[in-house]
Amino acid sequence: MSANPLVPGVDALVYGGDYNPEQWPEEVWHEDVAMMREAGVNLVHVGIFSWALLEPREGEFDFGWLDRVLDLLHGSGIRVGLATPTAAPPAWLLHRHPGMRPVMSDGTTLSGAARQTLCPHSPDYARAAERVTTALAERYGDHPAVALWHIHNEYGGAMPHCYCDTSAAAFQGWLRERHGGLDALNQAWGTAFWGQRYGDWEEIRPPSQAPTVVNPALQLDFLRFSNDGHLACYRRERDIVRRHSPGRPVTTNFMIVNCKWIDYWSWAKEVDFVANDHYLQAEEPDNHIELAMAADVTRGVAGGRPWLLMEHSTNAVSWQPRNLAKRPGEMRRNSLTHLARGADGAMFFQWRASRSGAEKFHSAMVPHNGRRSRVWGEVVDLGRELEGLDALRGSRVAADTALVWDWQSWWAMELEWRPTQDHTYRERTRAFYTWLWRAHRTVDVVAPDADLTGYRTVVVPSLYLTTSGAADNLTRYVEGGGTLAVSYFSGIVDENDTVHAGGYPGVLREVLGVEVDEFLPLREGSRVRLDDGTTGDVWAERVVPTTAEVVLRYADGPAEGAPAVTRNVHGRGQAWYVSTRLDSEGLAGVLGGLLPPPVVEGLPEGVEAVRRVGDGVRYLTVVNHTGEEAKVAVTGTDAATGERVDGTLAVPPGGVRIVREDVS
Ligand code: GAL
Repeated sequence: MSANPLVPGVDALVYGGDYNPEQWPEEVWHEDVAMMREAGVNLVHVGIFSWALLEPREGEFDFGWLDRVLDLLHGSGIRVGLATPTAAPPAWLLHRHPGMRPVMSDGTTLSGAARQTLCPHSPDYARAAERVTTALAERYGDHPAVALWHIHNEYGGAMPHCYCDTSAAAFQGWLRERHGGLDALNQAWGTAFWGQRYGDWEEIRPPSQAPTVVNPALQLDFLRFSNDGHLACYRRERDIVRRHSPGRPVTTNFMIVNCKWIDYWSWAKEVDFVANDHYLQAEEPDNHIELAMAADVTRGVAGGRPWLLMEHSTNAVSWQPRNLAKRPGEMRRNSLTHLARGADGAMFFQWRASRSGAEKFHSAMVPHNGRRSRVWGEVVDLGRELEGLDALRGSRVAADTALVWDWQSWWAMELEWRPTQDHTYRERTRAFYTWLWRAHRTVDVVAPDADLTGYRTVVVPSLYLTTSGAADNLTRYVEGGGTLAVSYFSGIVDENDTVHAGGYPGVLREVLGVEVDEFLPLREGSRVRLDDGTTGDVWAERVVPTTAEVVLRYADGPAEGAPAVTRNVHGRGQAWYVSTRLDSEGLAGVLGGLLPPPVVEGLPEGVEAVRRVGDGVRYLTVVNHTGEEAKVAVTGTDAATGERVDGTLAVPPGGVRIVREDVS
């Protein structure tokens, strides 16, 4: 298939990693490039943290080494994602402008002996970032090696919020824009309670540590303001490179799922394509399900278009409590799962393992023992394999189930003083996702206001903050014939963390056909039984149906006898409500009947199958996470070997096979 490449000039699935050659003498660079060719690397990201080397003194630039690196790579046919180095402000900059160091909520000013020491609202930082970005863009804007621009690194990752005085002033300005006047702000924040009324913008401070809980609406606005501050930094650099380097895509590496503090729905339209970093939670059982979910959320942010896995690891990372090594074949499984779920390339942090510095025990494509390592062999094999899978490029993942996801609702729900601390966003979304993964359904992850037409089933694992617009959207979906499943503590507050008028579940009352008379959170470790024997924990409620029918009741616990699961026929569709915390098996038992058919009938447990569909072609990727050979019903041609598959595909234990299906 001749799809448009994700990165113009890389007419293949993207393969490579972060390349930090400034750590090495130049003779190593030549070996690097030879080894990159051997591994089939076609793109590397250069200069991500090189500010202090590129601008050793204010306004004095040293591009010599970078010229040589880019020319060398270009001469070898390896394309470059050139980074703006603004995630690593140099020591001289911090020394000259100590005010740009970020301040934590407890008032501590952070030191500069690491990367990411910066306040995103600092004018001194802005000026310096603009200068180095302009210098780089002017020099390399039309360099033939440069295929794309990689702005900064993981915005919001290390230091998501700054509480300094400069940030406070910027916050006041942002609030004026958002609320218009102080009366509107006082109203929106409910400042009549606890006597928190503001009479002047300058009285408003960031939510630093306080004797007790800070006004939650203030906190929410501060989180939005911080997100927007990072976005403004990104836009500033993006616009500079766009001016000097037209035609080359500009993006930044997201940390979807693992960074709570960036509202990626608001970033999606700002990048030329979505790029994500994903690191496996090494010790977590079933971490491949978390990986699949991260890939699906990334594809959701990308609006279903192909995206790039910008960083993952070949083997262990170095920042988890216990950095477990990947088992042989695991890196391939991880990479091909991302591909199956919509990535058009897989890249790593980093090319060659460092000998010094903070990340020397982090794996790389070239480990400390180089070619003799197991990892190097797997890196070369994967590069070859990707060359053979080029036809996957540009195709789209097929899904008829959607899961609603929202960062701002996540923020609001996890502020202080909720009915229980045991209900968390990650846990609920993960439980629903796990249920769907185990049921072999592919899920599109969507924003609450996304167009839901075409989805057979939509699940809402947790949507505490539900705007009226989102509620209307979900209601229209059901009225049009859709099947909706909503979990407890959804629909409760508006964008200012104000409880929707008239009682729970607020703006979802009508579509769900229930009222919730009281929340009945459970003691730690205690469980409630439903009348079919299913058990839940953490949460129960006194649910009063208005138009809904009762599917299951509580057999014991504080809501004994009351409805636990309900179903409401609304318009041409139906809306289900689950009022206790069910694990993924419980969800399968209670809601399993709502799902459209699986990707492939009869898939064994622990086997993942995802379909990508292109122009007249369909590819089925099957990942076997079990220790037994898996047999899967599919007919077509093995995309890597060209071998015919006549009705049954045998996938070895821990293996992955991709089949180009016969399309009738
Ligand atoms: C990422 C970061 C990389 C590297 C990596 C290690 O968050 O962008 O520079 O530090 O983690 O896993």
